[in-house]
Amino acid sequence: MIQAYISGTGGYVPPEIVTNDALVRDYGVETSHEWIVQRTGIEARRFAEAGVGTADLAAHAAREALADARLAPHQLDLILFATLSPDYAFPGSGVLLQRALGLTSGPDAKFIPALDLRNQCSGFLYGLATANAWVRSGAAKHVLLVGAETHSAALDFSARGRTVSSLFGDGAGAVIVSATADDRGVRGCYLGADGSEAETLCQRVWDIKQRPFIPLDADGNGKVDPAHLWAHMDGRMVFKHAITRMTEVLGRACDDQRVALADIDLFFFHQANLRINQYLAESLHLPAEKVPHNIERYGNTTAATIPLLLAECARDGRLRRGMKIALTAFGSGFTWGAAILDW
Ligand SMILES: CC(C)(COP(=O)(O)OP(=O)(O)OC[C@H]1O[C@@H](n2cnc3c(N)ncnc32)[C@H](O)[C@@H]1OP(=O)(O)O)[C@@H](O)C(=O)NCCC(=O)NCCS
Repeated sequence: MIQAYISGTGGYVPPEIVTNDALVRDYGVETSHEWIVQRTGIEARRFAEAGVGTADLAAHAAREALADARLAPHQLDLILFATLSPDYAFPGSGVLLQRALGLTSGPDAKFIPALDLRNQCSGFLYGLATANAWVRSGAAKHVLLVGAETHSAALDFSARGRTVSSLFGDGAGAVIVSATADDRGVRGCYLGADGSEAETLCQRVWDIKQRPFIPLDADGNGKVDPAHLWAHMDGRMVFKHAITRMTEVLGRACDDQRVALADIDLFFFHQANLRINQYLAESLHLPAEKVPHNIERYGNTTAATIPLLLAECARDGRLRRGMKIALTAFGSGFTWGAAILDW
């Protein structure tokens, strides 16, 4: 039987390190290092420079994942691109990544499908479920799945937006999901969504129910109300639901796979807030060394958090072949997911 496993990982963060102090000093955010660290564990994040977009960040991570899997871009059969900060309203960033990887011209051109996923912080898990289905059905042998975000372009650095702007950073993570006849890889993916909370964490920008979808001034220029332009988040509601849903979906994954939490070697939790993950780890009695994190360095990179962390742990030897791992995420939508893999 064909199984799907992760044959390569890659990660990329832009070079500018923005510490909490730099957020105050250089970006004028009314906050403090102490406030951010106490509530979130975040010490710094990366911001991409103007002129760099989400597909650019993704291309770096994708090349590293391809090299790790010892594959050339033309050996891919599908691109899955998870992001909430796409380069354009349309087309999706998947086709831009295909172009950046050199798949649209020259002798290695290959017009493989490119699919964008709009599942925010759960985007990587929704993508993994999709890649797993394609590979196991025989429709694809090698799938490139990336999560990438350029949050820094859309953060409100005024006092109004500080709850959100303190949390998010830029980055990209990528994996190659490949077919294997070996008994390893993705054992199961479990997803959920609750649209009744769609506006609890959202960035609307336009209202497609209005004519036109963005109000125009007398000169015909679009004018967006700040309440719609910037992301809105009810932090406490998100915190509460994140704990409930991540606990629930992880439990569902373990029950379905007949795996005890104690049998899992490493837990890759979405890096939204260190306090959420510490609370989860404590309530599930998970030893701290089984729950790696990098949020202190990168902040919340949304769809990129899990693949970035996988790539880091694979590089530094914490994640080794034969390990059983669990992935869990929760985010805007609300959406959530979990997966169990034998690495
Ligand atoms: C965002 C979060 C850290 C905010 O912490 P909180 O204790 O809930 O804070 P609140 O939003 O209730 O705000 C409390 C006060 O801090 C202030 N505040 C908000 N952000 C601030 C910041 N960056 N610096 C300083 N003060 C800040 C608020 O203005 C408010 O002040 P007030 O009481 O005078 O009105 C917390 O709710 C959280 O982590 N939620 C989960 C968010 C998340 O994970 N999102 C991503 C999901 S994928």
